[in-house]
Amino acid sequence: VNLLIMGPPGAGKGTQAEALIKELNITHISTGDMFRKAIKEGTEMGKKAKEYMDKGELVPDSVVVGMVKERLLQPDCENGFLLDGFPRNVTQAEVLDETLDSMGLKLNGVINITVPREKIIVRLTGRRICRSCGASYHVLFNKPAIEGRCNACGGELYQRSDDNEMAVINRLEVYEAHTQPLINYYSERGLLKNINGDQDIKKVLEDILLSLNIR
Ligand code: AP5
Ligand code: ZN
Repeated sequence: VNLLIMGPPGAGKGTQAEALIKELNITHISTGDMFRKAIKEGTEMGKKAKEYMDKGELVPDSVVVGMVKERLLQPDCENGFLLDGFPRNVTQAEVLDETLDSMGLKLNGVINITVPREKIIVRLTGRRICRSCGASYHVLFNKPAIEGRCNACGGELYQRSDDNEMAVINRLEVYEAHTQPLINYYSERGLLKNINGDQDIKKVLEDILLSLNIR
């Protein structure tokens, strides 16, 4: 299956994506993770993306779209994929439709995770990420077994440079202005599955699988 997961920053997209790709045996395509990898590697694209990301702005479409198109052509996408963090505006959604069309593919569902705005800041400012595998934890809601270490790989946990209150508030504004219109876009196409993200992590996963008629 080819899926898309969307929702405001901190909705739990990355957390659910990690579980879903294992459950469904599909490939995770996270544009945020791809940019963070490029930043770590010090590539030109990484340097450009970092300027926007640290402020909570969207990286220009011209940079994002080419990267995703290239990624979708990789052989590991043939068994299905889960797009996370892309598309982020209507232009990107239209490019995605054209790209999938040209590949003879389509989306089977769009998971839209909703969380009340006031919970988002707590989630993001308490988030910690694994430096090695990108797994996401929370100092209160999703603690690692050993403080500061990843359960999955033992890697060191760090705080993302855009998880400070100022950047988070800007990310929320950008989400409302540019990404929220995609809810209508996919609803009109009969693809949207609304999921309550303000529940236990395992319950959210259950609801997603149910909505996809997989359980
Ligand atoms: P991106 O990496 O996509 O960030 P985001 O959309 O802001 O989403 P997050 O990763 O912050 O949140 P999430 O929903 O994955 O939450 P998580 O599961 O970690 O993008 C970053 C930046 O890159 C953008 O600002 C932009 O600059 C750029 N970018 C990326 N894609 C782009 C594109 N297509 N176009 C242009 N620019 C682009 O969970 C959050 C926290 O909550 C964690 O601590 C977690 O443990 C906890 N948590 C999760 N679920 C629950 C739960 N059910 N209950 C309690 N706590 C929970
Ligand atoms: Zn890890």
